[in-house]
Amino acid sequence: MEKITSLAKRRGFVYQSSEIYGGQNGAWDYGPLGIELKNRIAGAWWKEMTRLHDNIVGLDAAILMHPRTWEASGHVENFTDPLVDCKKCKSRFRADQIPQEALAAKKCPDCGGELTDTRKFNLMFKTHIGPAEDTASIIYLRPETAQGIYVNYKNIIQSNRMKVPFGIAQIGKAFRNEIVTKNFIFRTCEFEQMEMQYFVKPGTDEEWFSEWRKQRWAYYEKLGVKMDHLRWHQHGSDELAHYAKDAYDIEYLFPMGWRELEGVHNRTDYDLGRHTQFSGKDLQYIDQDNNNERYIPYIIETSAGLTRNLLMILCDAYDEEQVADKGNDDDWRTVLRFHPDLAPVTVAILPLMKKDGLAELAQDIRAELKEDYATDYDQAGAIGRRYRRQDEAGTPFCVTVDYQTKEDGTVTLRFRDSMEQIRVPKTELANRIRSEIKAYKRIK
Ligand code: GAP
Repeated sequence: MEKITSLAKRRGFVYQSSEIYGGQNGAWDYGPLGIELKNRIAGAWWKEMTRLHDNIVGLDAAILMHPRTWEASGHVENFTDPLVDCKKCKSRFRADQIPQEALAAKKCPDCGGELTDTRKFNLMFKTHIGPAEDTASIIYLRPETAQGIYVNYKNIIQSNRMKVPFGIAQIGKAFRNEIVTKNFIFRTCEFEQMEMQYFVKPGTDEEWFSEWRKQRWAYYEKLGVKMDHLRWHQHGSDELAHYAKDAYDIEYLFPMGWRELEGVHNRTDYDLGRHTQFSGKDLQYIDQDNNNERYIPYIIETSAGLTRNLLMILCDAYDEEQVADKGNDDDWRTVLRFHPDLAPVTVAILPLMKKDGLAELAQDIRAELKEDYATDYDQAGAIGRRYRRQDEAGTPFCVTVDYQTKEDGTVTLRFRDSMEQIRVPKTELANRIRSEIKAYKRIK
């Protein structure tokens, strides 16, 4: 993880928030390569969930919601972690994450000092809206994007004539006052989620739950993730969230071990039932194709962290490889083997020399490719070094413009993973890259 954190900073993927002030715990900033990667991961998920499913539509709800939302959802009452503090060294722990003997003996696992009693700590960030700081002005930063979907479910049925089963997808920020925020961007106080809520007829929920588990697994396979680094974990009764009847996590083998990447939850009619109760509005679905049968739909939720997916994609792509073709045992390269659809830069254009018109020729080629691809241009340093820099940024294709380009209009197309180089007419570059992306198969 240290290597990944340092590469992320060095190459402009992720920086510590407010670093010049010593950093802000639980918050991170995404640099030029990071925001491109994050946008592509979000884009891939959005395409999968909305464009490839005729009955799933999108939404972008506000972060600030009526405070009754969080009473109805159960978060005010139940969204808590058990917390203990050490009276001596002032460390703070989640009671369920320290050795249970230490907890029973009330002994700090770090310094042996005395621990406080366990108390419940609500993870929602609470603030005030408007000029008065009284109880009437309390507002929460949403701890999940899901509730914005539930409160809009009737609007969307009406405006878009949706029929059950149907889904609503949303990507957005969520906030949790996490007690432990180690492991880089894995668990943070400010993060982004990609959530889809699928509304189904009661009684069909288990079938849809199993269907969505299949689809979410297939999605990661399509992204080219190492499938032996993924596994399912079913929640035991002690782990289930207050709204869930059944829940499975897709776990990824991160450098610190197996950890949750995404959850698939059967939330039953809990959320819509509670919003009916708290708002006084009738949230039943009226099935016009079935004698106006009325019911509160069950909800199957797929809930992935966008920022956690970014960490997974970075870890999954990271490789250090001995570069054998140089015949030099000490020659290693660091390479990020991103799927080309996710890579922040798709193609880098590199003139062999700055002089003799090669730089101008390379800039012309870049201008043409820009319309279709995220490009980079680099003319500084030896060509081998420039390839390494692109490997480290995860750029799948490099185009080198040399003296032969001036003669016959061909360029070198170099592939990141195999390091193979071929000559291609510059007029065919855009199409060739497109077909290479379509046919892409991870080789390592
Ligand atoms: N709406 C259901 C829900 O929020 P969750 O299991 O609490 O369920 C879903 O969160 C996903 O959101 C997780 O699998 C994880 O990817 C991401 N996530 C949750 N808390 C996070 C945090 N503090 N930092 C980063 N990602 C987080």
